[in-house]
Formats: sequence, C-alpha cells, structure tokens
Amino acid sequence: MRSLAEIVLEAESTLSVIDDLALLEQAKAKYLGKTGELTEHMKGLGKVSAEDRPRLGQEINLAKEKIESVLNAQRDSIQQRKLASKLAEEAIDVTLPGRGRSRGGIHPVIRTWQRVEEIFRSIGFDVADGPEIETDWFNFTALNQPDNHPARSMHDTFYVESESEEPLLLRTHTSPMQVRYARMHKPPIKVIAPGKTYRVDSDATHSPMFHQVEGLWIADNISFADLKGVYTDFLRQFFETDDLEVRFRPSFFPFTEPSAEIDMRFGSGPLKGRWLEISGSGQVHPTVVRNYGLDPEQYIGFAFGSGLERLTMLRYGIGDLRLFYEGDLRFLKQFA
Ligand code: PHE
Repeated sequence: MRSLAEIVLEAESTLSVIDDLALLEQAKAKYLGKTGELTEHMKGLGKVSAEDRPRLGQEINLAKEKIESVLNAQRDSIQQRKLASKLAEEAIDVTLPGRGRSRGGIHPVIRTWQRVEEIFRSIGFDVADGPEIETDWFNFTALNQPDNHPARSMHDTFYVESESEEPLLLRTHTSPMQVRYARMHKPPIKVIAPGKTYRVDSDATHSPMFHQVEGLWIADNISFADLKGVYTDFLRQFFETDDLEVRFRPSFFPFTEPSAEIDMRFGSGPLKGRWLEISGSGQVHPTVVRNYGLDPEQYIGFAFGSGLERLTMLRYGIGDLRLFYEGDLRFLKQFA
C-alpha cells in the first residue's frame, strides 16, 4: 500500500491534466471509490492501535479533502472551458446591421388593373366586382349563347361539380358581369368589371387563368362613335401617349351585333406601325339587353372585353405571358 502523501501527490498531478468530465469521474474512483486506495487506508484503521487511530484518521481525511478539492477545481475548469468554447462557437456579432425587411411590390398585372380602374373612373365609369364561379345562365345563356349555340364550344370550360340543377363553371369571360350589373342598376349604365377568368388554354400567350376587364355603357343613345371615343381615350391614357390610332375590325360575338375587334397601332416606339389586337367589342345584342331586364327599343349601348395581361405585355414589351405566373423575383422586381 502506498503512503498517503504519495497517493495525494499522484492524484494531484494526474487529475489536474484531465480535460474530460467522464475521464475525471473515472480517475476519481481510483482514489476515492469503494475499492480506491484511500478506502484501503480506511479499512486499515481497524488494525491500528487505539492511540494512533485518531491521528491516522485525521491524516486520511486530510488526504481525501485534498484530492476532492483538486477534483472540484478540475471539474469547474473543464465546465468553464466547455462553456467558453460553446459561446465562441455561437458568437453573435452585435455590430452587424439588422436583416431588415424587404419592400414588396405590386404585380404588373395588378398594376394594370389599378390603372384601368383609375382611368375609367376618371371618365365616369363605376367599378364592379362579381363571382368567379358563375352559373351557366349568366356565363352563356343570358349572353345569347343557348345550349346548342356553336359559340359555346369556343370556350373549353372548367365546370364545377355542384348539387344544383344548373351547371356551375369558372367564368370564361367577364361578360356575365354585364348582366349581373345591369339587372341591379337603372340606366344610364356605365361600368367596368375587371377580374379573373378561366379557360382550358395554355401556351406563351394563353394561361388557364387570366384577367379581363369588361366595359358596358348603356343609355338611350350610345353608339359605336362613343365606344371609339372612350376606348381611344383610355388607350392614350393607359399608354401615356397620344401617338396611337384605333381601328375596328368586323368580328363575331353572340352577345353583340355588330361586333368588332379593336386594334391599335403606335405611331412611335418599338411596336411602331404594327396593328395590335387589343379587345373584343360590339353593340350589345337586343336579346342581351332584354336579359338585362331592359327594353331594347329604348336602350342601346356597347360592351367591350379586354385582356389585362395583353395590355400589360404591350405596355412593358413582355413577350411571354407565363412570366407573370412563375413568381420569379428577377422578373417581378423590375416592376416594383
Ligand atoms: N367576352 C368576350 C371574350 O371573352 C369579349 C367581349 C366582351 C366581346 C364584350 C364583345 C363585348 O372574348
């Protein structure tokens, strides 16, 4: 058996270099554990004489205290170092600038929507909003497209399952808003209805969801000349130039008669000189006026339906409509 002094000396030098808590506890057992060296000394106490016993007991206790104090100091220092290195790892540089919050922007198509509303409001039009899930009657029948009408198949339509007798569908155009609005207001009726529309269509210039703005002006003496005046005025304000021309090209829609495509041509700029199709339009068909709940002998007027994506593409010179829906910030940021 080694002397107490020897044991303490060795314990002090061994323990003070251990830098791992688990290893430290293991080393502790060697000196203070049940089978440790100091315990051996304790067991020996019984064999010493009664007069030596207190002194020896005291010496053993002292040795134990010394070892324990080295142990505690070492345990503290390991924990301190652990904490320090953890803090260093997770260090926060409080001098760095904050992350901030980046500013959002309005989508270019919605920007067009807002401009269109603003311009038409300024020339006396009301702005109306209506359902995107529409009944078959408002979307087709009321607009002079009965069940067997060939024009009905021109729209490949998203039908919605429903319990009701009448089929429901995602509106294929904003024209049903003509009927909804006219049935709730007295002439003169002067309104635009912008909103989302849906068709089974998808390529560089068509998207299954797109935006239209419907226009309707009904009173007792509204003519194509008024349509041309209003629409030309709108285009000039929208494109911020007077240097553009408008022409009507005969067309067909079941809900207008006569019907026309509105084309426009810039007198300058990158699109200069090319006729661009911009809107469907026409004088509201007498049957539709009747479906408004009005007498077609007394009331007459025009309607138009224009694509907001198309207006946006022309305004900014965008060639592919899909860019509007991809959510690519590199594209969208240019309009913020
Ligand atoms: N609703 C037609 C379309 O979606 C456009 C239109 C509206 C035509 C009003 C004439 C009058 O294509």
